Amino acid sequence: MQKIKTTMSKMIHTQELALNSDDYCPKCKGKKSMIINILGNMKKVPVLCKCEKEEYERQRILDENKEKLYKLQRLREHSLMDENFKNCTFENWKSDKENEKMYKMGEKYCNRWQEMKKKNMGFTFWGPPGTGKSYLSFCIANRLLQSYVPVIAISTIGIINRIYDSYKRYGQSGEVAIIHSLKNASLLILDDLGAEYTSKLGKEKQIIYSILDARYRDKKPVIITTNLNLKQLKEKLRGNDCVDRTYDRLIELAPPVEIKGTSKRVAVGKEKTQILKSLL
Ligand SMILES: Nc1ncnc2c1ncn2[C@@H]1O[C@H](COP(=O)(O)OP(=O)(O)O)[C@@H](O)[C@H]1O
Ligand SMILES: [Mg+2]
Ligand SMILES: [Zn+2]
Repeated sequence: MQKIKTTMSKMIHTQELALNSDDYCPKCKGKKSMIINILGNMKKVPVLCKCEKEEYERQRILDENKEKLYKLQRLREHSLMDENFKNCTFENWKSDKENEKMYKMGEKYCNRWQEMKKKNMGFTFWGPPGTGKSYLSFCIANRLLQSYVPVIAISTIGIINRIYDSYKRYGQSGEVAIIHSLKNASLLILDDLGAEYTSKLGKEKQIIYSILDARYRDKKPVIITTNLNLKQLKEKLRGNDCVDRTYDRLIELAPPVEIKGTSKRVAVGKEKTQILKSLL
């Protein structure tokens, strides 16, 4: 008798739990609930029908894209560069006979970024002003940023000024914090090395050494551009004790690549004159 009673109560319970028309989606006819056994108790739990699943997935992709865009925006802001930087892209690249190799080299570097990163591979682009060294470096930066690689591109004068500004507010710890923040970048681009002013005390040289040494120790690549030739760069970076430790470190981190050619600034100037003429 007792056994029958329990069976009856179980049946009633299960009946109460049966799926009814509300548990089916009117649109896709899929189940919106299901009955499951949780530790011996039957429970009705909600499930996603086909259209709800699709809506969920759509929302997830939307959120993911939003997140990516947000990340990209923040990365760009953190890349420390100005408006002009955004326009330096391989897509906007103006080819001529002189810069064909540079283009190929830059694109290959980006395509093989994982390997380059692993091998801590960078460059020192050196050569006369206006040959497109900064442009090439910024193309690399923008291409990598597009794949969410954190890149910081900054002029050497810019970073030194930032550090000097931070002394006023935070003292020595400001320098440490700024150099530390560069660690977040998988690739650091230091534009126009050698154009910075160097005081007799050699504080600027010491800052540059600290930056390069930190990259070296973190095994993270750096790309340098400079308008100096290698001999001039070596002299410029030489310590007050006449030791070339910064230059030696630099060459190991970022092997030199000579960028030859004529100044593109002339062409840019000519184009602007043309535009000006069309306006007058
Ligand atoms: N491949 C290129 N496509 C379009 N513009 C370029 C290219 N290379 C250089 N330029 C333009 O020529 C000028 C000089 O280039 P830049 O990269 O500043 O030279 P560098 O750093 O060698 O002194 C800049 O205005 C730059 O935008
Ligand atoms: Mg430059
Ligand atoms: Zn549905």
